[in-house]
Amino acid sequence: MKENLNNKMKLEFISKSSNEAFARVTVAAFVSQLDPTIEELADIKTAVSEAVTNCIIHAYDKRQGIVKIIAKLKDNEVIIEVSDNGKGIENIDMAKEPLYTTKPNLERSGMGFTIMESFMDKLEIESIVGLGTKVTMSKKIKVKQENENDEELETSENK
Ligand SMILES: Nc1ncnc2c1ncn2[C@@H]1O[C@H](COP(=O)(O)OP(=O)(O)OP(=O)(O)O)[C@@H](O)[C@H]1O
Ligand SMILES: [Mg+2]
Repeated sequence: MKENLNNKMKLEFISKSSNEAFARVTVAAFVSQLDPTIEELADIKTAVSEAVTNCIIHAYDKRQGIVKIIAKLKDNEVIIEVSDNGKGIENIDMAKEPLYTTKPNLERSGMGFTIMESFMDKLEIESIVGLGTKVTMSKKIKVKQENENDEELETSENK
């Protein structure tokens, strides 16, 4: 069994769309410590990308603000908080509905929260109108016991 790995990082950046890739790649690099599969990592990157894009496009609109990410590793689980101090969400239940968007003219499809929900294990949205929004999502990374055994076999055979 792998040792329990508990770790935490915090990232803050200006709400520029050029920072979306930076955020996604940075979180992925941090999560790599849990040895995720390519699929698990791709899921996490997509979810982070959706959450960060929401802060840039909806929370701050044309203004500039700070987007904050806190990522935690707890045993084999990753917990990611993405928050802003933007305009907030009036009706969270409605915002979570697939295809619901307040910006249909900007080629938004209204699928961001649905994607976060399906690619991660858990999604929680807290928001106060005028103060900001915090999205917390988590995902368990599968422990690769079979591979570990394979490696052990290989090393003993090679001796
Ligand atoms: N951080 C946020 N601050 C303020 N409003 C938000 C925030 N995130 C989401 N919303 C609101 O929730 C709605 C739904 O978000 P969701 O990400 O599901 O769809 P979308 O961003 O409109 O479209 P897509 O993500 O498919 O491009 C948004 O249209 C917006 O009104
Ligand atoms: Mg979105």
